[in-house]
Formats: sequence, structure tokens, C-alpha cells
Amino acid sequence: MNTTRTQVAIIGAGPSGLLLGQLLAKQGIDNVILERVTGDYILGRIRAGILEQGFVDLVHEAGVGERMDREGHVHEGVELSINDARYRIDLKKLTGGDTVMCYGQTEITADMMEARQAAGLTTVYEASDVTLHDVDSEAPYVTYSKDGVEHRLDCEYIAGCDGFHGVSRKTIPEDKRTEFERVYPFGWLGLLSDTPPCNEELIYAKTDRGFALASQRSETRSRYYLQVPLTDKVEDWSDERFWDELKKRLPENVSRDLVTGPSIEKSIAPLRSFVCEPMQYGKLFLVGDAAHIVPPTGAKGLNLAASDVATLYKIMKRVYKEKDTDCIHQYSEICLRRVWNGERFSWWMSNMLHNYDAELQANGVEGQTFSRFMESELKYYLNSEAGQRVIAEQYVGLPYEDLR
Ligand code: APR
Ligand code: PHB
Repeated sequence: MNTTRTQVAIIGAGPSGLLLGQLLAKQGIDNVILERVTGDYILGRIRAGILEQGFVDLVHEAGVGERMDREGHVHEGVELSINDARYRIDLKKLTGGDTVMCYGQTEITADMMEARQAAGLTTVYEASDVTLHDVDSEAPYVTYSKDGVEHRLDCEYIAGCDGFHGVSRKTIPEDKRTEFERVYPFGWLGLLSDTPPCNEELIYAKTDRGFALASQRSETRSRYYLQVPLTDKVEDWSDERFWDELKKRLPENVSRDLVTGPSIEKSIAPLRSFVCEPMQYGKLFLVGDAAHIVPPTGAKGLNLAASDVATLYKIMKRVYKEKDTDCIHQYSEICLRRVWNGERFSWWMSNMLHNYDAELQANGVEGQTFSRFMESELKYYLNSEAGQRVIAEQYVGLPYEDLR
């Protein structure tokens, strides 16, 4: 057994683990990342690309914001549409100056990986059988194997940044955690293409045929989504069928000028709301997708991960700079307050914008009634400045909470 030591062991090199590692290193707090797959595999995942100001600030604090500042696009508004009626939510005006940054998660992940490597910080890729031990003791450690050799990493704290399917959450004994979950009766079919975006800002489209989203990565790369039944397979959707359906769901004056082209990537993702409480057990902290999942409708997944990172970062600074270890017990309650806000917003946006008719009718419920309630609620919000502000302030992201 090869034994090494660090202050904070980080499980997972997704955005949560990489951002936390970079911030801790800036404060002189030693950390090692253990990751199950290769860096290239991680960069092959296509994920959302809307960053709240809080995330952008953290990236700057970590010293990794240079390319984001150059290539990212600040969006001052976002559109919602109901069939052909378009409503622009002026984020900047309604929130008194806040905006969001459009910059792909893949890009920010690549930037952080590069910065980590340049700083000479240790990341063990392709670490298998990662196992957390004695997390509720004074001497936690992690074992793993790499190239057939067994390793032990002794540490003071463990950050479980290993996503929804990781080992960290499962390390918390079942009788010490409660999991809350809602699975939605449809999925999102996503398509990435090297075509110019159809609109300067994102369009979330509610239609009688189902939901659609027009998003983007750059002036030449677009990302589109369609609500599809969970039984659909990617093979059912040729590019041609996708574009035809998208045109029927986007407002007519947008579809008219939609530029189509071959897909670079196409995949179906289920929608889920999930929260694990508490997010801390002994010396283990759950961060990001390891603790919570939101449906992508509010673009909150990555942003909730960032607020967890911000809270853990503040705690670790206080632990190592001020030798105050009591503050670690604040982690879960601070994170969960913001997490549940993001969960509720994502659930609300999902309810508001998707078509539930098929599912409700299949269960013998009068689907049209629910649809009318949702449509009326959405119109109520969109036709009032107060309503639009409620959407705007959540879309740009609620403030981060400080430690006591
Ligand atoms: N051992 C080591 N690493 C693991 C293990 C394991 N047993 N299980 C999973 N991992 C790694 C995964 O390979 C992945 O690279 O942990 C990483 C988790 O990354 P993400 O799933 O991207 O989660 P996170 O970093 O919290 O990112 C926030 O919020 O909604 C989303 O799209 C958003 O992916 C983003 C996420
Ligand atoms: C994306 O660009 O992939 C995206 C944007 C906003 C969302 C979800 C996904 O709400």
C-alpha cells in the first residue's frame, strides 16, 4: 500500500471538485483530487452553459476567468414564449443590474483542468475503487487503486464532489440521511450544432406540442432542446425530424430564420429533482450533484454546485486560517437553504413550461385542467412586472449566505 497525505481529499474532477481545489490551493490549503475517469472523458460531456454572477466571481477569485471573460457572453435578458407570444425578461433592469454569463460548462471545466495542471496540483485520473473510511473520526482516509497499485490517502477533510452516481453520498449511513426525489414524466432531447444561434438571448418555449429551449455556446454554435416522452430513443430522432419539430415549437418569427445543420451531438436526459439531507457527515462534505439534482429548466445545476463550493471554501478558510473547526457544522444548513430555493425554482419552471397532458391522461387524470392552471399562472407572472421580477431575481441567482 502506497500511503500519501493531504489536507483536503476531493473526490471527483467535475466543475465542483476542480473549482474547490483551485480556490483552496490559492489559500495554501493542500488538496488532492481523485477521479474515476480520464480528463478527456469529462470534457466529452455536454452540459448547460448559463453562469450566475456568484459563479463568475468565484471563477475570478480562483484566477481562472481569463478565457471566460474573453469568450463568454453576458446576457442581460432571457425570453419565455407561449406558442407565438414572446415575453422578454429584462434581467438587468428588473434586478437592478444583474446579468448571467453564457459560457459552456465544458469550457470552464477545461480552463480549470488546465489551471490545475499548470499549478502543479495533484489530480489522480482513472482512480478505481475509491472508498472513504472513518469519515466521522479525527483521521479520515481514502483508498483507491491506480494501474493495479493500491493507494491510501490520509486527510483532514473529504469533499465529495463525485456527482449523483458517486460513492460519497452512499458513505453516509442510510439512517443518517434523508433523500427527497421527484422524477418527471418526460426527458430533454438535446442537439448541438455548428450553426449561428436563432436569437441573441435564450428562448424557453412553452407550446401545445411540448417545451423547447433555444440556447447557445458562441456566435457559431447552438444548443437546442425538445421535451420528448421518456420512451423515445435518440435513434428515433433524425436531425431532420429534430429541426422540423423545433420549428413548430419556437415562435414563428424565430423559426422562419432558424439556421439548421448537422448535429455534432444528440442525447436524451431524464429530468429529476433530488436532495440529500444533511450534506455533511463527520469530516465529509457533499458538494454539487453528489447532494442534489435539479431539472435543467432553470439552468441551476452548475450554479447550485458553485454556491456549495463557496460555502465550503469559506469554512475551510476559517478552519485553516483561524483554527475554528466548529464552523464546519454550518455547512449543511447554509447550503440547503439555497439548494431548496433552486430546487423549487427549477421545479416551478419545469411545471410551468412543459406539457403534462400525455402523462396525466395516461393516469386517468383530466390533463387539460392542470395545463390550464399552469398556462394561467405563467401568463399571470409574465404580464406583471412584479411577476417578471420574481422570475428574474431567481434566474440571475439568489445571494450567497455568509457564515455566522
Ligand atoms: N470515484 C471518483 N470519481 C468519481 C466517482 C468515484 N466513485 N464517481 C463519480 N466520479 C466523478 C465523475 O466521473 C465526475 O467527473 O465525479 C465527477 C462528478 O462531476 P459532475 O457529475 O459534473 O458533478 P459536479 O462537479 O458536482 O458538477 C455540477 O451540476 O447539474 C450539474 O451540469 C451540472 O455537471 C454539473 C453539475
Ligand atoms: C444549455 O445551454 O445547455 C442550457 C441553457 C439553459 C438551460 C438548460 C440548458 O436552462
